[in-house]
Amino acid sequence: MLGSCKDRTLAAEGKRRIEWADQAMPVLASIRERWTVEQPLQGLRVAACLHVTTETANLMRTLAAGGAQVSLCASNPLSTQDDVAAALNEAYKLPTFAIRGEDTSTYYEHLHQVLDTQPHITMDDGADLVNTVLSSRSELIPHLLGSTEETTTGVIRLKAMEAHGKLPFPVIAVNDALTKHMFDNRYGTGQSTIDGIIRATNTLLAGTTFVVVGYGWCGRGLAMRAKGMGAHVVIVEVDPLKALEAVMDGYVVMPMRDAAQIGDIFVTVTGNKHVIDVPHFELMKDGAIVANSGHFDVELNVKGLNAIAVSKREVRHEVEEFMLSDGRRIRLLCQGRLVNLAAAEGHPAQVMDMSFANQALSVHYIYTNPGRLQAKVYPVPAELDKEVARLKLQAMGIQIEVLTEEQIAYLASYDLGT
Ligand code: ADE
Repeated sequence: MLGSCKDRTLAAEGKRRIEWADQAMPVLASIRERWTVEQPLQGLRVAACLHVTTETANLMRTLAAGGAQVSLCASNPLSTQDDVAAALNEAYKLPTFAIRGEDTSTYYEHLHQVLDTQPHITMDDGADLVNTVLSSRSELIPHLLGSTEETTTGVIRLKAMEAHGKLPFPVIAVNDALTKHMFDNRYGTGQSTIDGIIRATNTLLAGTTFVVVGYGWCGRGLAMRAKGMGAHVVIVEVDPLKALEAVMDGYVVMPMRDAAQIGDIFVTVTGNKHVIDVPHFELMKDGAIVANSGHFDVELNVKGLNAIAVSKREVRHEVEEFMLSDGRRIRLLCQGRLVNLAAAEGHPAQVMDMSFANQALSVHYIYTNPGRLQAKVYPVPAELDKEVARLKLQAMGIQIEVLTEEQIAYLASYDLGT
């Protein structure tokens, strides 16, 4: 069974780009090479709901090389790379259901199509598959060994399910691996968000006031890169520790109400709802650019912006200009969907290499540890996390220091003091 995609004639271009990404994903390639021989995933069916990108294609190829039967649908209607979906279906024969710009009902139809394969393991980026299983496909639960989750927003959702006693099977929070969030969230989101804003607007960042809403790992990376481009960076944060860290990192910290009045460019990376709301839009300067790089399109109150606007028009591809009653214009990127994947290509392959190595090893872990895991959200086992770091360093040709016997003994002792 093959999936559905926009245009199968794009397959050759998709394959070329997938191969380009692959040469920058050495850790995943080393796992694929080993699994091609060992076939550890024989008999396993995996249904994945991830952004359909060149990097994801290489993850799917790796699982398939290990013997798994895989199918893929999009985890966001605007992030699909149509040539990649075509290549997965046509060149790699891996069923993929994804069309860039698909409406909500097609989006969910595609989720159901991957669930129709009766998977043993689901992979999510945002928890939509697990939520769909829970809400309308409970007949699948007895066959499901577990799931993996790629992103902060999904982990929050799954932990809420666990807290309500609703989580139906074990989940590995891939996002929480150190080799995921400290790298993908920080350097991946940092670079790809700037990339998306620039591709959409071709604006100069130097000299602008760039407001980052949320100072988690994504916010830290984004602030760092915006500063590097010469912007004056302002941080809006609700957590006192993170806010303090932002101050010590050299940023100006203030509430959203104050930032709204001085910002030229605003980006939300909080995982929360309406962090930029109507009262904030009402305070913004003429020409303000507003974007979101969090997983769901809830961070900006786009409905509210529509309601206060007297008119709107598309001024560039993926840039909508909203005119307020006093003539001020607010420019919204990608309808408030994640700008790094909707206007650019998401995180570069070098960083997805580690995230997806964690995904692949977590799928293997769930499959080879049946019955050992309960219906809880688990971290990636520390030894897998370290293994990914070790393999990445090896692939980069970097050697690290090793402890001497004397140092090992010292660290294990308590009686050697002043
Ligand atoms: N999330 C962020 N960037 C991504 C990418 N390039 N591929 C898949 N998921 C992503």
